[in-house]
Amino acid sequence: METNNIVWHDASVKREERNKKNGHESFVLWFTGLSGSGKSTLANAVSRQLFEDNKQTYVLDGDNVRHGLNKDLGFSPESRTENIRRIGEVAKLFVDSGQIVSTAFISPYREDRQQVRDLLDKNEFIEIHVECSLSTCEQRDPKGLYKKARTGEIPAFTGISSPYEAPETPEIVVNTEEKSIEEAVHAIVEKLEAKGLV
Ligand code: PPS
Repeated sequence: METNNIVWHDASVKREERNKKNGHESFVLWFTGLSGSGKSTLANAVSRQLFEDNKQTYVLDGDNVRHGLNKDLGFSPESRTENIRRIGEVAKLFVDSGQIVSTAFISPYREDRQQVRDLLDKNEFIEIHVECSLSTCEQRDPKGLYKKARTGEIPAFTGISSPYEAPETPEIVVNTEEKSIEEAVHAIVEKLEAKGLV
């Protein structure tokens, strides 16, 4: 990659100053899981709770980001890797801006998630595995995509015809078959409090 003649500019307002003013740390809550597992719902519910508690928060969501920034990308392994790479870079900018950024992407490959983790400092990347069995996700099928995947109308669908590599040592695991959204949000916020992040 050509990076000649490009010089990094230090910002006039430092992240530390923003965090001090906001009264909290900035970091990424990286929700990963199958389609229909509840990533977006949970990311938005956690963000709402933090917002009500006067925290700076923002949600980056798979479907939404793919409408704009990443609309040139499909679902091949290479496209998914590039999708997550770009999101990682965007999330890092949000962390620099003082936000607690929740991301809701399937992010099926361990290596891609590790690359995002490596972009950030320790304690800035909180991986949250939104656990839910394939059969339950398929029963929920909120967008009718599993049905299309089963008939072959959608190729390379995660869990059906494309792999999902579950995290081995995520910071947080929530199972949306066992917990309601309210319970899951509560469990996540409790963990963040225990880590001294909020
Ligand atoms: S990835 O794998 O992280 O790059 O995917 P992501 O950016 O999160 O986008 C997932 C959403 O795209 C829709 N969709 C598909 N998902 C998986 N596989 C295939 N082939 C596919 N085609 C479209 C689907 O609505 C996903 O949204 P969620 O919220 O996960 O259900």
